[in-house]
Amino acid sequence: MSVRVAEPLRRRIENCYTIPMRILLVTNSARGEAIADALVRSPQKPELIVCSTVKSPGFAKLATELHVMDIMSLAKIVDIGKAAKCDFAFVAPDDPIGAGLADRLEAAGIPCVAPKRNLARIESSKSFARELMHKYGIDHNPRFRAFSLSSRDQRHSIELDIRAYLEHELHSQYVVKYDALKGGKGVKVSGEHLMTIDSGAKYAMECLEECGTVVIEEKLIGIEFSLMSFVSGTSVIDMPAVQDHKRADTGDMGPNTGGMGTYSDVSHGLPFLEPSDMQTASEINKKVAAAIEQECGESYKGILYGGFIATSDGVKVIEYNARFGDPEVLNVLPLLESDFVAICQAIITGNLTSEHVKFLPKATVCKYIVPKSYPVDKKEVGQKVMIPQEFPENSRIYFGDVHFDDTGNVLLGGSRSIGIVGIGDSIVEAEQVAQTVCEKIAGPVRFRSDIGTVDSIQKRVDLMHKLRAR
Ligand code: GLY
Repeated sequence: MSVRVAEPLRRRIENCYTIPMRILLVTNSARGEAIADALVRSPQKPELIVCSTVKSPGFAKLATELHVMDIMSLAKIVDIGKAAKCDFAFVAPDDPIGAGLADRLEAAGIPCVAPKRNLARIESSKSFARELMHKYGIDHNPRFRAFSLSSRDQRHSIELDIRAYLEHELHSQYVVKYDALKGGKGVKVSGEHLMTIDSGAKYAMECLEECGTVVIEEKLIGIEFSLMSFVSGTSVIDMPAVQDHKRADTGDMGPNTGGMGTYSDVSHGLPFLEPSDMQTASEINKKVAAAIEQECGESYKGILYGGFIATSDGVKVIEYNARFGDPEVLNVLPLLESDFVAICQAIITGNLTSEHVKFLPKATVCKYIVPKSYPVDKKEVGQKVMIPQEFPENSRIYFGDVHFDDTGNVLLGGSRSIGIVGIGDSIVEAEQVAQTVCEKIAGPVRFRSDIGTVDSIQKRVDLMHKLRAR
């Protein structure tokens, strides 16, 4: 039986099948380019509407529309998403997530892969994260206390309390955390940023004055790693574990940065971890997602980033983030074999299962090219960086804080410039790929040659052996 369909209706039905899917991507760094790259690899062939603080060269190729803008202009982002009739949004950075961009987009009918503001407190409030874990019996917190200032009169007594806690309970081995987002600069550690009880108490009081609450914790000794998971409510599917290198200089020296580079292993574990450590970290992510759902009365939909530390006393939680890590995402998304758009759709509809997520059994090493004076100064802003035209097939290059000028020159911003990723059948092989590409980039820039090298990894394995023997 054939059905005659009126011409205008027939055209409309046909259009339904030809109108491409549109995804709104909000980003501020190389992380966004790695996400964009994974989205456009989808067989669903989506169009990307990108809102970005940087006019990164990568988006010239990947985006259908690029809006270079302040990504804290939440109302403007919602308008752009509505005008482009986006099917869903992916919000990459912490600030717009913490400010409630997902709430606004969803209210405008655009579902979001990023948690709503209340749920994103797992990152935006350090006291929320610690107290949630404590309340739900997730026994992987360090010793901690949250101090709050409800009236100015309490100032003196709270300061005495803080001093006593730092000195007598934590024995001067402490971490002071600003209880809100602070561009990665809210956490200060004894022996690194704070050398005395006085300076610890002073910083804690500054945090109290500025945001009303401060978290003080025991300083943990061990080796840090990240385990990120795709989360839709209580369905939690892990990505390969990654190790970041926060210090600016070779040998883990110098000031802290956003992350100078990372590596991941073929097994999707890490050389200094036991399988039981990976299992513990994975279970903690699952328990935290379930606890958030119970506490907030709605499902977490997005990326959950567990920042862990392997210690002599097992795996502990350093912090949680409500987004992909940068550079961690540069390691994991190039290995994603499955359809990233389908993963995002399953996160949104609540149908996410392990069937949706498959990663290649490969190792990766990422090294960030940064301006020479990063992170202490911004002397190289506007200077030219020269990039080769050709790259090996087993490498990836993601642009961060760089700008293309009208004549095609690549100019440095003040922050991390270009993430170079090598992919291989071992960390050694991946490291050599990344190192070779980094060496070909010319200009007033530098990178950490030691990330992912045999020596650097062996040091971590040896330290972990020592800790486990205690
Ligand atoms: N690599 C650390 C972070 O993204 O917070």
